[in-house]
Amino acid sequence: MNRRAAIKSIAGTGLALASGIAASQAEQGQFPVPPDTGATRLAQDESFWREVATYYDRTEGIINLEHGYWGKMAKPVLEVYQRATAMVNAQNSYYARKQYGADMMRSTARVADALGVNADEIVLTRNATEAIHALLLNYQGLQAGDSILFADIDYPSFQSTMRWLEANRGVKAVQLTVPNRASQSEMLQLYRQAFEDYPSLKLALLTHASNQQGMVLPIEQIAQLAGEHQVDVVCDCAQSWGLLNFQLPQLAVNWAGFNLHKWIGSPVGVGALYMRRGTLHKVAPYPGELDPENTSVARRVHPATSNFAANLAIPAALDFHQAIGAANKEARLRYLRGLWTNEAENMSHIEVLGGGDEAAWSGLASFRLRGKNSGADVRELQQRLEHDFGIFTVARYALNSGACIRITPQVFTSENEIATLVEAMRRLA
Ligand SMILES: Cc1ncc(COP(=O)(O)O)c(C=O)c1O
Repeated sequence: MNRRAAIKSIAGTGLALASGIAASQAEQGQFPVPPDTGATRLAQDESFWREVATYYDRTEGIINLEHGYWGKMAKPVLEVYQRATAMVNAQNSYYARKQYGADMMRSTARVADALGVNADEIVLTRNATEAIHALLLNYQGLQAGDSILFADIDYPSFQSTMRWLEANRGVKAVQLTVPNRASQSEMLQLYRQAFEDYPSLKLALLTHASNQQGMVLPIEQIAQLAGEHQVDVVCDCAQSWGLLNFQLPQLAVNWAGFNLHKWIGSPVGVGALYMRRGTLHKVAPYPGELDPENTSVARRVHPATSNFAANLAIPAALDFHQAIGAANKEARLRYLRGLWTNEAENMSHIEVLGGGDEAAWSGLASFRLRGKNSGADVRELQQRLEHDFGIFTVARYALNSGACIRITPQVFTSENEIATLVEAMRRLA
């Protein structure tokens, strides 16, 4: 089977599900990656990635290096989603009331399987925010005088949620400032120090991969330290799942929030909440929901009427993601990032933000012009990149060191496009 036929058969799998017909395992194709090619070597195989790119519609008129917002569905996934939308619209309540429950459970099981956890530990949400809010806002372990921990590399809206807890629960919110460049061992030390300095800490928000500069925290080690200090951890995996290749048990956290609409390539409107069995008593059900035995993660959210078709497209999105290979995807994105960060590190007018070692880097990273860290400076830089060089990026503002430009390639980004960015950065001097 050639690659295109393999992907067509992947599309068929999701479609069968969307039309209420059980997916046949036999239909699940494999994206035929060249044999005996490790992820690191494949990352540099431009012809392979050019072929992958043919499965995506291009952004017209600009080089788009802002793929941290949400992911693009591959064409076979889009096709499944469109057909699922038409089916749901036609069948309406007859489908939703009679069959959606079973299909949704199948999608949930696929998410759980991909994350390496049990299906009863996962509930689908509309995005990562819904999942993380369910944890932070209904966490039962806080009393006046306790402290909670977050960092300036966390998602800005969740930093606000931590401040909201401070204002409304009588707790002290402690914000860590992360250095512009830090290795994983330096990050571990930063958190170790915080756990020692603030014995009243009860809850920590940890972001697996930052949306500000892509830094990857050593979650497993930090979570272990947190456990030693009786600190509960909420892990934000919104930006990490699919950007990085991992399964949840490797992170050793009890609670995490995800979306699938960034790096898994599902339609917009798909997220997931993970709560490890036996830990539900610490997080109250969604207001008004009952779960007297604390056994139902599904009772922690209330998505109500939401996008049926988006959830039906989950298996197709996971099929496509897994067919490319999560390790291959991570390696390609890291490779593309290295193409610009390695060059930029030798440009005296540029300050690169992100990992201090490869483990702390991801495919996403940021930069600013040295000494130009105000919001206005960086907005102007974003405009120059867009209008003078035809490169679309986004300014990020949450870091205590100031604003920066985030660069986020995707699997369909070419080496040539990154070369254009590098040339533009040179000319910014
Ligand atoms: C680190 C991080 N956390 C949370 C979110 C929120 O994700 P969602 O839009 O799925 O709620 C994002 C989205 O950009 C993010 O990058």
